[in-house]
Amino acid sequence: MVSIKSSSEISKMKIAGKILGQALKMLEEMIKPGINCLDLDKAFLEFITSKGCTSNFFGYYDYPAHICVSINEQLIHGIPQNRTIQDGDIVSIDTGCVYEGYHADAAITKICGMPKNEKDIKLVNDTKKSLELAIEQVRDGVRIGTISATVQKFIEQNGFQLPTDFAGHGIGTAMHEDPLIPNTGVADTGMRLKAGMTICIEPMVQVSTSKTITAKDNWTVISADNSMAAHFEHTILVTEEGCEILTLFKD
Ligand code: MF3
Ligand code: CO
Repeated sequence: MVSIKSSSEISKMKIAGKILGQALKMLEEMIKPGINCLDLDKAFLEFITSKGCTSNFFGYYDYPAHICVSINEQLIHGIPQNRTIQDGDIVSIDTGCVYEGYHADAAITKICGMPKNEKDIKLVNDTKKSLELAIEQVRDGVRIGTISATVQKFIEQNGFQLPTDFAGHGIGTAMHEDPLIPNTGVADTGMRLKAGMTICIEPMVQVSTSKTITAKDNWTVISADNSMAAHFEHTILVTEEGCEILTLFKD
């Protein structure tokens, strides 16, 4: 069931989103050669706790951490390990928190230190751009296929690949609500978005295959050919005129 949020629900979603935007900014600044993934998880938990939030990742299907850190060929759901991030690593950080029962979910990808090559830079920039282009399409009445097709067209034009096993989603009193927001689709098809819906759009992109495999830890999703991967995500409120990005960094 797709829910339309009331104004008091939206106020809580906005608080959750703002705190998550601040937490992600902090993590982004911490990504430097030599940082340990466990320190990112710890700093994140401390930050959201200090703001009155709890973790929605920890314990989700027994997920054992508070953020996901997915490095290089890892696409999503990397469990933070006792691992030091190296110069040139492509680091995707996926985060979520709950404020008074309302969830926010957001992800960024950053190249640590000095990028190894132009292709890595293009992968990260194009993945981010595909999210921005999709967000520009969001407003009351727009069909979900139009959002999906916007991501797909831009990513494919730029020669990258889109795994189809994972998608964006509605969000609210649960991290994952209806509707599903796929990263591939046909414009002007599917359900119409309505003002008051809150959704997550999250392009997940790989360099040279759309196939993924799940690692032995049963969580980490890796590109099937070990090519590099990137992921960006925002929690978004659909409005009459357009949308509001809830997980942007604000002071
Ligand atoms: N944030 C992810 C999503 O976008 C879900 C994280 S799975 C978890 O849907 F297990 F790590 F929580
Ligand atoms: Co999500």
